[in-house]
Amino acid sequence: MAQFSLNINAQTYNIDVSPDTPLLWVLRDTLGLKGTKFGCGKALCGACTVHLDGNAIRSCSFPVSAVKGKVVTIEGLSEKGDHPLQLAWQEVDVPQCGYCQTGQIMSAAALLQRNPSPTDKDIDMAMSGNICRCGTYLRIRKAIHTAAK
Ligand code: FES
Repeated sequence: MAQFSLNINAQTYNIDVSPDTPLLWVLRDTLGLKGTKFGCGKALCGACTVHLDGNAIRSCSFPVSAVKGKVVTIEGLSEKGDHPLQLAWQEVDVPQCGYCQTGQIMSAAALLQRNPSPTDKDIDMAMSGNICRCGTYLRIRKAIHTAAK
C-alpha cells in the first residue's frame, strides 16, 4: 500500500492503495465514481476512458502510481450534465444499451478539445478505439458534429 494524492474532477483525494492498482478501480471502488465503466480490462474497448490533463486514457490499464496530473471523469465533464456533447447525445438519442457511452463521450470531448471542427474521418479515427456492441457509431458521429456547431 502507498499514499497517493489525486486531483479528480477538481477535487483532491488522498487514498491508500497498492501502486499498481488501475485508476479505474480507484475511481469506481474507492471513490464511488461509477460513471466510468469496466469493459475489457485490457485497454481494448474504451469503456473506461477518462481524461488525464485533457488527453483520453484507458483507466483500466493505467496504474494509479502513474497518474501525474488532473483527472476528469464523466461526472466532472460538466456541472449539470450540460456539456455540449452531453446535450447532443440526448438530442440525437445516441445510446442503445448505453454501457459504452460515457467512454464514448470522454473520447469525443478530448477530440473536440484538440479539434473543434472535426471531419467524419477525424471523428472515425479518434473514436476508433471505442467499441459499441449496439453499433451506435453513426449516431455518435452525428452527435459529435452537433456538439461541434
Ligand atoms: Fe478499459 Fe476496455 S475496460 S479499454
